[in-house]
Amino acid sequence: MLRNIAMQQDSRIYIAGHRGLVGSAIWRQLEQRGFKNLIGRTHAELDLCDPAAVQTFYSSEKPDHVICAAARVGGIVANDTRPAEFIYDNLQIQNNLIHGAYKAGVKKLLFLGSSCIYPRLSPQPMSEDCLLTSPLEPTNQWYAIAKIAGLKMCQAYRRQYGCNFITVMPANIYGVNDHYDLTNSHVLPALIRKFHEAKTTSAPTVTCWGTGSPRREFLFADDLARACIFLLENYNDEQHVNIGYGNDVTIRELAELVQKVIGYTGRIVWDSTKPDGTPRKLLNVSRLFALGWKPEVNLESGIRLAYDDYRKRMPTN
Ligand SMILES: NC(=O)c1ccc[n+]([C@@H]2O[C@H](COP(=O)([O-])OP(=O)(O)OC[C@H]3O[C@@H](n4cnc5c(N)ncnc54)[C@H](OP(=O)(O)O)[C@@H]3O)[C@@H](O)[C@H]2O)c1
Repeated sequence: MLRNIAMQQDSRIYIAGHRGLVGSAIWRQLEQRGFKNLIGRTHAELDLCDPAAVQTFYSSEKPDHVICAAARVGGIVANDTRPAEFIYDNLQIQNNLIHGAYKAGVKKLLFLGSSCIYPRLSPQPMSEDCLLTSPLEPTNQWYAIAKIAGLKMCQAYRRQYGCNFITVMPANIYGVNDHYDLTNSHVLPALIRKFHEAKTTSAPTVTCWGTGSPRREFLFADDLARACIFLLENYNDEQHVNIGYGNDVTIRELAELVQKVIGYTGRIVWDSTKPDGTPRKLLNVSRLFALGWKPEVNLESGIRLAYDDYRKRMPTN
């Protein structure tokens, strides 16, 4: 019989990866709703690749609910150049979290995957049913395979052991606590940093990677957090759920929006020797929207909030 015990204000909720972009947004949103017993461990305090350490943690903390927002995450170049780290770390982290949650009798677990689980040439927008219908994008296939294994593991534990483990597949996320390292970051934070630096140094041009033609969807991290909490409270099925904004922009349009928010007046140059990645990635979010959830933060407002956070966190700016 499936365990379905709702989150109470005093439930012990463990957010794995609580200092990351997504985990910190989930923490913030739960705190705002009055949840009092949030549990977090930094990477230094608990290495989620270490099965014994994770088991000890579960035995001592006894969380009621677990949110798996810890992962090795990175942009195209990081994925392409460090494939072993991406597949090994992600498989280890999720195996330890999911199996440990089962052993510890966790009431409900939410596993965060990514839209890169879908095939490179999926029909757009990508519905949940596209999974495993044709080849993956080669640059991040290692990460995608690990995430697909995590999704299947949640389903397997549900079927065999009756665990109420649900999985979500978010679009590209941006927001407060994002990463701004130019070689490892995702496209939106990389653009914020480049345009900001170009503005402060009065550089005449900004060079952006690729051709600018791929289309991408961006969701503000606090919207993702709200959707995860909504699903923890309202969803108990095996089928994974896409979480997205519901429409996409070209990278060129995105760059122009970042340029506008930052107020950079120079010119954009496109470096087409750098890889574009998948031509289009838009999630079909009709399942989520039909359940009654909608995002609150549009792209321009979200970029303004992310840029404010960037300026606060970068001491030299
Ligand atoms: N960002 C996106 O665009 C996006 C899109 C779709 C899905 N997601 C999913 O959302 C989840 C979180 O992503 P994010 O963007 O928030 O990533 P993030 O900002 O890099 O945060 C990941 C967190 O995991 C922790 N972590 C990594 N390896 C660990 C380990 N071995 N032991 C303990 N902690 C470890 C990191 O701690 P350290 O930094 O200290 O290592 C960090 O706090 C991931 O599952 C990702 O697939 C993200």
